[in-house]
Amino acid sequence: MIEHVITEDGSSSLFIPELNEHYHSSHGAIREAVHVFIENGLKAIRKPEINIFEVGFGTGLNALLTLNFARENHVKIIYHGIEAFPVSEDLVEKLNYADLISKELTEEFKHMHLSEWNKSIGVSDYFELQKIHQKIQDFTPEINSYDLVYFDAFGYRAQSEMWDITVLQKMYDMLAPNGILVTYAARGQFKRDLKSLGFLVESLPGPPGKREMTRAIKV
Ligand SMILES: C[S@@+](CC[C@H](N)C(=O)[O-])C[C@H]1O[C@@H](n2cnc3c(N)ncnc32)[C@H](O)[C@@H]1O
Repeated sequence: MIEHVITEDGSSSLFIPELNEHYHSSHGAIREAVHVFIENGLKAIRKPEINIFEVGFGTGLNALLTLNFARENHVKIIYHGIEAFPVSEDLVEKLNYADLISKELTEEFKHMHLSEWNKSIGVSDYFELQKIHQKIQDFTPEINSYDLVYFDAFGYRAQSEMWDITVLQKMYDMLAPNGILVTYAARGQFKRDLKSLGFLVESLPGPPGKREMTRAIKV
């Protein structure tokens, strides 16, 4: 049974005892997500309209931080998040992200979670969301259609199949030229696989508790 936990920065996360795996860093879920996906991903894309694909929509934390960025910076974001195993409503109710990021986001966060799957929904003036209820392995992406991929799968130890080169090939194909993939992960084989697909791979300082993270650019 999945459990709600509080991480070191006071923000919520979920823990799966059977896999011994957290959804986020225990050093701080919001802190990690801001560092990896917003600071080193979203902020590197300088466009008035940005198409984002997330692998593992999960708690919706990355989507909420991205909506907040769109609202503050007046950029339009089209966000597609794929999720094979949606988080249950009772767990969603325990997540404290809107309280910590901005109370003004409370309704939007609810809207994101209650919105229908596999349908494009306008969550706010700046943020359009489509949650895709499917395994990434079964998903056929549109080629060259995203500016940014948030690759937020469980770690290699818990779910090695998510890091298979066939999945990474899909990420490469769906990104537009100069598109960026960001992830908290930094395994050597993962980075070698990205390079072999044609990505330019950067190792950047990781969030607290992690030496490195990875950013890969489709050149
Ligand atoms: C590390 S968690 C992160 C989730 C989310 N980004 C968040 O911040 O809560 C990984 C997510 O990938 C989802 N997942 C697992 N296997 C998947 C698959 N084959 N295809 C798509 N999503 C999958 C899990 O259910 C989980 O929600």
